[in-house]
Amino acid sequence: MEQQLDWQKLGFSYTKTDFRYISKWKDGKWDDGELVTDNNLLINESSTCLHYGQQAFEGLKAYRRKDGGIQLFRPDENAKRMRLSCRRLLMPEIPEEKFIDACVQVVKANERFLAPYGVGSTLYLRPFMIGVGENIGVKPSKEYLFCIFCMPVSTYFKGGLQPVNFLVTDYDRAAPHGTGGSKVGGNYAASLYPHQIAKDRGFQDCIYLDPTTHTKIEEVGAANFFGITHDNKFITPISPSILPSITKYSLLHIAKEYLHLEVEEADVYIDKLDIFKEVGACGTAAVITPIGGIEFVGKMHTFYSQTEVGPFTKELYRYLTGIQQGDIEAPVGWIYPIK
Ligand code: PLP
Ligand code: COI
Repeated sequence: MEQQLDWQKLGFSYTKTDFRYISKWKDGKWDDGELVTDNNLLINESSTCLHYGQQAFEGLKAYRRKDGGIQLFRPDENAKRMRLSCRRLLMPEIPEEKFIDACVQVVKANERFLAPYGVGSTLYLRPFMIGVGENIGVKPSKEYLFCIFCMPVSTYFKGGLQPVNFLVTDYDRAAPHGTGGSKVGGNYAASLYPHQIAKDRGFQDCIYLDPTTHTKIEEVGAANFFGITHDNKFITPISPSILPSITKYSLLHIAKEYLHLEVEEADVYIDKLDIFKEVGACGTAAVITPIGGIEFVGKMHTFYSQTEVGPFTKELYRYLTGIQQGDIEAPVGWIYPIK
């Protein structure tokens, strides 16, 4: 990093940092893992990750506290979700201790890429596992790599805490009994085309409906969905094909315990959007992104003032980010201090 990074302008794009973690699984066990400087992987051309999508990943962030310390937000939940994703694709599981220890190693080794407190930038960690080695039949690999790299980021959706518009797509990212609930690459490959259509029409991303009936909101391409009803209830969709967002479950808790709202995971019908006064997208990368408008079959439905952030969304954002960067006391077990 010869020149100083402009922390607020980073957006969400790849930056090569100094060190990444890599561990190999062979003959039924993981090696000790190590930090390396090379950001390229050399793998066999017949690797299952290249042909059959035998791949899973995670996303979590390291945050700088006011006192200069660093902390992770609920890394045990990412470790747990990664284990479930791996189980779904017949990949070996990463023990939670190994997962968190690898995260800590990567953050410490790349500390200079984590911005000072309060400038709006965090260090995004991307753990992933891929099936590698010789294997051309459609069967699970005999060898795997578990890696984590990191990069400094600011906002994922344009504008950060500024309302953006989403387009409801006819396409599905996941099948009814497929892999939507797992964080695996195939779901994202399926989302690229509808995402492009949305972008070409000036939307930030698309909203997926449930793949069985196409009547209920599932989630956004890279984040979950939530809404605040006119009678002040926090509602977020329930479905087995939604990725179980750690941010979403954290917001359910924050809305209930800190804002004292009634909360519910429930069906959210696309033709009943007028029950909501505020809606938003939430996720590690997206944090909380207010949604100003949703276009469905040619009609735009707007929320709050469409261009301003509603008061409940603002409060949820304040609590979530306050907890994540250590300004607000977190529920027990949510924070993993690094130093
Ligand atoms: N839904 C999808 C499809 C995602 O890619 C993500 C990002 O991780 C989320 C939801 C949000 O999940 P989390 O809050 O655990 O980051
Ligand atoms: C995340 O929020 O961590 C994600 O994985 C979303 C996206 C960048 C795929």
